[in-house]
Amino acid sequence: ADEQPEVACSDTLRSLKEASHYLVDLLQPVAFPTETVYGLGALALDSAAASRIFSTKGRPPDNPLIVHVSSSLMLHSLLPPNFILPPSYELLIKHFWPGPLTLLFPSDPTLIPSIITANQPTVAIRMPSHPVARALIAISNTPLAAPSANSSGKPSPTRAEHVLRDLDGKIGIILDGGPCEVGLESTVVDGLREDGDIRILRPGGVTVEAIEQVLRDGASDGARIPKVLVHRRDFLDDTIEQAPTTPGMKYRHYSPSVPVTLLWTTSSPPSGVEPVTPAALLDSVKSLVVGRSVKVGILAPADSSLLQLLLADSTVTWHQYGLGSKSEPSITAQRLFDGLLTLEKEGVDIIMIEEVGEEREGLAIMNRVKKAAGECRWVSMA
Ligand code: TXA
Ligand code: MG
Repeated sequence: ADEQPEVACSDTLRSLKEASHYLVDLLQPVAFPTETVYGLGALALDSAAASRIFSTKGRPPDNPLIVHVSSSLMLHSLLPPNFILPPSYELLIKHFWPGPLTLLFPSDPTLIPSIITANQPTVAIRMPSHPVARALIAISNTPLAAPSANSSGKPSPTRAEHVLRDLDGKIGIILDGGPCEVGLESTVVDGLREDGDIRILRPGGVTVEAIEQVLRDGASDGARIPKVLVHRRDFLDDTIEQAPTTPGMKYRHYSPSVPVTLLWTTSSPPSGVEPVTPAALLDSVKSLVVGRSVKVGILAPADSSLLQLLLADSTVTWHQYGLGSKSEPSITAQRLFDGLLTLEKEGVDIIMIEEVGEEREGLAIMNRVKKAAGECRWVSMA
């Protein structure tokens, strides 16, 4: 996990140095690519610099930030001197760092400003794998706090142009590293409790299945294999709002300025949701506008039978954005936020997203979709 990032061309190096100057000398935030989503970075160990992240995003101050490091030396410089890594963390770091996994550590208040942790006793840390992210941290030679580089409540940016459209005029530099490979934010994990179990506070780029496998395969003989506990969130279920799994989870999130409807097709929907036929669904959508054909953005797997059925209605102006095939949730994850932001830019009246299975990346996908959607409809195909 400690190899040096590769910085190939001198243009890249010049951009990195300029961005680093902004961060370190001017204490200004900079947008940069990571493998998950674009981040809005600032010096993690400087309260004034970090506070600019909150003002730029309009982020509530009780939502703590993730600290990004580029080496294990940098990680250990942030930890309390007497802290010993739990065995589960050794395994998770070995397998998933650098990469889309964030771990909670005890926070040393003499080191980590309280603005970063929002006064939690823990600090969230991750080592990104994107070479530009790691080079920027390494050149700046100090950890960077970075939430996703979007205004609070909006979908996270997965391309430099998403950041530009959202934060233009508010930030001085956006480093363009192309589209993000993972497309959803990191998995946030708490493995600090006495019981040794792993709690998934936010599902993300590293799947629960992959974490379970690593803990199973890596367990030493006779040792108890830690359980992986996931809080599944139901649509319209506000228990999580009363006991948020991460402070950030209680906020409405990922919503473009266009209304988003989640289309339930396979699993049983929450109680109180009545089934509609595809025809009735389309009738209600058409009634949203008068005097012209309704523009509907649709995000669905290419092999969805509901999609084929809906697209057959040519009185609707369809804006289709493909999410790959049902068997490849990692592609759906990569395309979800770009789909929401692309359809929003195209000026659709409403965005409909078809449910995906909650296996593998599907868990994180549905976590984001349920938060983006203002309503859900149960489409009965029978
Ligand atoms: O992939 C990612 O994690 C991206 C890229 C830029 O690295 N960052 C990101 O940051 O998604 P943000 O701020 O959008 O989400 C951070 C999440 C929030 O849900 C926050 O509440 C949680 O991590 N979090 C941060 N510190 C925490 C702590 N000490 N305890 C519990 N949750 C924490
Ligand atoms: Mg975010």
